[in-house]
Order: sequence, then C-alpha cells, then structure tokens
Amino acid sequence: MFDAFKSSFNFSKSEPKVDLGEYPLLDHPPHHVGIIMDGNGRWATANGKTRFQGHQAGTENLRRVMEHSTDFGVKMLTIYAFSTENWKRPPLEVRGLMKILENVVDNELENLKRNGVQLRHLGQLDKLEPVLAKKILYAIDFTKEGQKLVLNIAFNYGGRSEIIQAIKRLMLDKIPPEAVTEELLSHYMYTADSPDPDLIIRTSGEFRTSNFMIWQAAYAEYYITPTYWPDFGKAEYYQALADYCKRDRRYGGRNG
Ligand code: IPE
Ligand code: IPE
Ligand code: MG
Repeated sequence: MFDAFKSSFNFSKSEPKVDLGEYPLLDHPPHHVGIIMDGNGRWATANGKTRFQGHQAGTENLRRVMEHSTDFGVKMLTIYAFSTENWKRPPLEVRGLMKILENVVDNELENLKRNGVQLRHLGQLDKLEPVLAKKILYAIDFTKEGQKLVLNIAFNYGGRSEIIQAIKRLMLDKIPPEAVTEELLSHYMYTADSPDPDLIIRTSGEFRTSNFMIWQAAYAEYYITPTYWPDFGKAEYYQALADYCKRDRRYGGRNG
C-alpha cells in the first residue's frame, strides 16, 4: 500500500528548471520561510482521491517547493508535517504519515545531499517509533554539510510542547531566573541558533497557527491562501515572496 510513496520525493524526476526570467529577481527574499502545509485531505476529496493520496500529492509538492526555494533565494524552509495534535487522527492515517516520512529518509537522502539540502528535525523524537527516530537522526547526520537549503521538518512538533521542553531543560541546567532572557530561551528551542521565520505561509485558508512556531513567529509575516497544499505552485510561491518584499516590518517601531 505504501509503495506509491517510494519515489515521491525525487529531485531527479523533477520538472526542468523554470526560466527565472518569468520571475524578476526579488530584492530581499525572506531568509527563513515556514509553511503550514494544510489541505491535503480537502484536495483529495475535491479530486476524488483517498486522503492517503492527498498526503502523497502534498509530499510531491514539497519536493517542487524545495527546488523553488533555492531558485528564489530562500535559505531555510520549515515545513509543518505532523503536529502534536495530529495523533488525534485515525490510526491508519497516522501510520500513513509516519510511513511517508520514513520513505523520504529511506529513499531520498542521496538526492537531498546532492542538491545541497541540510535536513533538520523540530519536535519530539522520543514519541516516534524508535526505528523511525533512528533513521531521522541518521538523515540529519548524513546531510549535515548541505549549504544550499536548510530544511527543518517539524514532525511531532507543537509550539507549546517546545516551550515546555525548553523550560524543563533550562531548569535542568539550573539557570537562575535573572539569567533567563528571550535570547537565552530561544537557544533552548528546537530551532536553537536558527533565525526566526520571516514569512509563514498557510495553505487552504485557515486563519490560525495550529501551534506552529508560536515562539519564533512573534514577528513573522503571514501569507494565507485558499489554495490546497498539493496545488500550491511556483507562481503562487513567488507571489507570496513578492508580497512579503512589499511589507513594512516595523517590529513595533514608528511608521515612517
Ligand atoms: C495537512 O493536510 C497535512 C497534515 C496535517 C498532516 P490535512 O490532512 O490537514 O488536510 P485537510 O485540512 O483535512 O484538508
Ligand atoms: C496543521 O494542520 C498541522 C500540519 C499542517 C501538520 P491541521 O490540519 O492539523 O490543523 P487544524 O486542525 O486545521 O488546526
Ligand atoms: Mg488540515
């Protein structure tokens, strides 16, 4: 049943590079983009497919969006692939989502490495099957030299649980209260030394964060589109980035 995923994350099968002439160079593309890849289920319903096929189509789209990220100058991509709340889904769907990730780490590491992708994981590994957790750690190590794109996979990730684990580790390190600063706490997050996301894209139209990077996104810009994740293509990605470039990020400062 899961064989369909075996080649779903394959750079070598990718479409030819789109001529960037169609897409004028962005003057300051966001360094770090987060994506809440929502709408696989609704895409499946709309297209007469199973939810599993919807997640498959979503994974194929991720492969394309990674390539576009490099084309457009994005250096870090954080994708929300499985939330701590997604355990509430039927066991068969949960197993399918686990299997998708496992197939990616089983079959795509060479491709990812060849394409300069550095994989990282955000979330709690110890709640996953030990075999899968081990494969994820191997994948992180295998791709650690990647220089073109950092891909943070938020899998079994929840923003609140991330904050709790950061506080626990802070306490275990016996950090005194007066030493606790925003900067220090940031270092205890899964993202540790990474810059905060500049832009967060949410597909399929919901106006909520669903527990995604709630600490790091304090000053992120948002782009929300009704497009279902599997249909979120290059032109709309460019649109989101171009839209970001026009925003005035004031961080609470004065306008003008
Ligand atoms: C997003 O698609 C993928 C995950 C949450 C794993 P959904 O499965 O949430 O799709 P919808 O929201 O039901 O359409
Ligand atoms: C958010 O989508 C989680 C992921 C994309 C992995 P959900 O579909 O789980 O979010 P809700 O339930 O609509 O808030
Ligand atoms: Mg959803």
